[in-house]
Amino acid sequence: MKKINLGIIGCGHWGPNYVRNFSTMPEARVVWVSDLKEERLTHIRQLFPGVKVSKDSNRVINDDTIDAVVIATPTVTHYKMALRCLQAGKHVLVEKPMTTAIKEAETLLSLASRCKKTLMVGHTFTYNSAVQAIKELIGQDKLGRLYYLYSSRTNLGPLRSDVNVLWDLAPHDVSVFSYLLGCLPVKVSAQGASYLRKGIEDVVFITLYFPRNIIAGIHLSWLNPRKVREITIVGNKKMLVFDDLNTANPIYLYSKGVIRKQISLPYYDTFGEFQYIIRDGDATIPKVAMKEPLTAECRHFLECVMTRKEPHSSGRDGLNVVRVLAAIQSSLEDKGRLKEVR
Ligand SMILES: NC(=O)c1ccc[n+]([C@@H]2O[C@H](COP(=O)([O-])OP(=O)(O)OC[C@H]3O[C@@H](n4cnc5c(N)ncnc54)[C@H](O)[C@@H]3O)[C@@H](O)[C@H]2O)c1
Repeated sequence: MKKINLGIIGCGHWGPNYVRNFSTMPEARVVWVSDLKEERLTHIRQLFPGVKVSKDSNRVINDDTIDAVVIATPTVTHYKMALRCLQAGKHVLVEKPMTTAIKEAETLLSLASRCKKTLMVGHTFTYNSAVQAIKELIGQDKLGRLYYLYSSRTNLGPLRSDVNVLWDLAPHDVSVFSYLLGCLPVKVSAQGASYLRKGIEDVVFITLYFPRNIIAGIHLSWLNPRKVREITIVGNKKMLVFDDLNTANPIYLYSKGVIRKQISLPYYDTFGEFQYIIRDGDATIPKVAMKEPLTAECRHFLECVMTRKEPHSSGRDGLNVVRVLAAIQSSLEDKGRLKEVR
């Protein structure tokens, strides 16, 4: 079996996780790692002595033996880096968000399709086994008709300077919500504030309006005393809380709800009356086999490159998330005015 030769560009906090994961996979060979910082290359050299390193990403992109490139550089560089890789005939796995503009994402998508290369985006949470278990629970109608969802993604830092907290963290929630609901929000609104650095929002509150009268809230912050990674989903049969920081028991499924019981017969000239009964049942903990989501993502990328199948987090999904983020950004700049998703 021919191995897939990989280059990984960007080895700050996140990139080394790709090097570690791909290095354990028999179908892959990590040939190059590139980073602008010498100390990051020294770090990689120490951990993975067999890997070639360079400060110049052209060494990776122009190497004819390289089949695929993983891009884990800062967000604002994703577009140009992915464009160069696709133009050089490489398959690409680019970190989230795919780009910072809709036009750029469209360009990457059409280029990948024209040159028949895999374009995949690092929507890592959609590879999380708890998120996949939730998707199954929704598919089996365990939650009933969905009312609303909300997500808290807060921490004290890490602060980024190339993008605001929206472009940094919302790709996770937008990709997960769209995956779970099987559709994109139609309209969005958002408010936020820049407390630490002018023009870079560090706190954002978002509302997404999905079809079927489902609303979703997202609270994002780099300026919060607690690290929270939590999603709540409320349906008319059951309610669910997913705590990504609780690795042993990430999902709690609550048999709680409100039953609407008709207590008088409707007549032609009167409305029926209803009694609302609180149903406060048990909480159960569905079993979830915890695996590192990035391992599943990396394995899937290799499979897509080898079989040419459409990735689970495809370039099209990358574009869709950018479309939602762009609408949220527009609302943020317009004091929370409702915006349509283009
Ligand atoms: N999917 C996830 O769960 C997840 C988690 C964390 C970060 N990310 C994404 O990964 C990307 C990187 O995040 P990070 O936290 O590692 O950032 P980081 O700033 O720690 O690392 C980025 C690295 O890229 C290097 N770099 C910049 N320009 C380069 C170039 N032209 N050539 C080579 N190297 C270059 C920098 O020197 C730096 O070391 C971001 O897009 C972020 O959104 C995704």
